[in-house]
Amino acid sequence: MQNIVVLTGAGISAESGINTFRDADGLWEGHDIMEVASPQGWKNDPELVLDFYNKRRSQLHTVTPNTAHLDLVTLEKQYKVTIITQNVDDLHERAGSTNVVHLHGELLKVRSQFDERIVLDWTEDLNLGDRCERNSQLRPHIVWFGEAVPMLDTAITITEQADVLIIIGTSMQVYPAAGLVQYAPPQTPIYFIDPNPAISPTKNLTILPEKATTGVAKVVDELMNVKQ
Ligand code: APR
Repeated sequence: MQNIVVLTGAGISAESGINTFRDADGLWEGHDIMEVASPQGWKNDPELVLDFYNKRRSQLHTVTPNTAHLDLVTLEKQYKVTIITQNVDDLHERAGSTNVVHLHGELLKVRSQFDERIVLDWTEDLNLGDRCERNSQLRPHIVWFGEAVPMLDTAITITEQADVLIIIGTSMQVYPAAGLVQYAPPQTPIYFIDPNPAISPTKNLTILPEKATTGVAKVVDELMNVKQ
């Protein structure tokens, strides 16, 4: 069975109603990214950071997967599919994808500030004073700028085994995620779906300069019609 690896960014969730990071005015929901997504920001104003992620988490309860998330699930009928997502939402899982790697963490999890191995499921607001069993403040389970990406080695190994790579809705500006494409074997066909595609030309690259919902439908249709 062929391996399909899908790398997704904020653009796949845009049509579900979640804003992307870099499409608007350089601000992220009204904030400088470093204010709300860096260890320094957390140190300076933890309340602001918690409030920011509480709003994102509560918004997540009001949105649903779109047809791009859903169409990717169809691929599992014929392929081994691994989704490597930069997104912290759970829309791939809710759509039904069974194999999702979150590179930048998950909104619906929190972790201990002092022991990152203590990770808890969390669906409601997180507040100052919410502590882990070791009595440390809990923080969002998000990989902030300047922090290591614990799932990176896993993502590299998966990408190295890709027979087909599909990249959806990412500005390819944030490393190391954007660098994953270099680990795909040289003969691997790459599909890039984004209305504003920013990718260096490479071998076997097909660009679909359109929204995720229409672009993913086309690519999935094509791949489901390949005889194996
Ligand atoms: N369908 C597909 N792509 C879309 C759509 C859509 N409907 N709407 C917008 N896009 C594209 C934009 O053209 C852009 O290329 O989605 C991309 C969004 O880019 P970013 O906002 O930079 O998001 P992303 O690439 O996921 O950001 C990477 O940056 O702040 C960090 O950790 C955060 O994971 C995030 C990382």
